[in-house]
Amino acid sequence: TNQTFTMIKPDAVQDNHIGAITQMIEADGFRIVSLKKTRLTLERAGQFYAVHKDRPFYKDLVAYMSSGPIVAMILEKENAVADFRKLIGATNPAQAEEGTIRKKFAKSVEANAVHGSDSDENAQIEGDFFFAVDERF
Ligand code: GTP
Ligand code: MG
Repeated sequence: TNQTFTMIKPDAVQDNHIGAITQMIEADGFRIVSLKKTRLTLERAGQFYAVHKDRPFYKDLVAYMSSGPIVAMILEKENAVADFRKLIGATNPAQAEEGTIRKKFAKSVEANAVHGSDSDENAQIEGDFFFAVDERF
């Protein structure tokens, strides 16, 4: 499809980077279909990252993702999932390329500023996790 899902993670929201990050997203040709600032409970963060539940960092990740408000967005562009992963850069900011959102704003492999869906299927699931049908424009 032509949509992906993203979150601005708690560290980047806390550091006042909502504007700069959404500006980079729009400048790269994405249209913001849905947008909300909200906070995940520990339980909801655990559900969102359930695919990682057997990974050693799961507990830390879920605690971090529920530690403060996040900004959730559905984004639209041709080839959205792959193009957005390119825009955010590598998971570990030490490996992220120049010009990527994570290179600019990530603090660590965990507090890495943004999330981006890794497949069309997950983009759909993750968008549905946050947004009702009448919240998509
Ligand atoms: P997302 O877009 O957030 O899904 O990141 P990703 O697809 O680049 O990475 P992945 O799905 O493998 O991991 C999900 C999230 O878990 C990462 O974005 C990090 O916040 C966190 N994470 C991944 N690897 C590690 C790790 O080795 N240690 C810690 N503490 N956190 C990690
Ligand atoms: Mg991922």
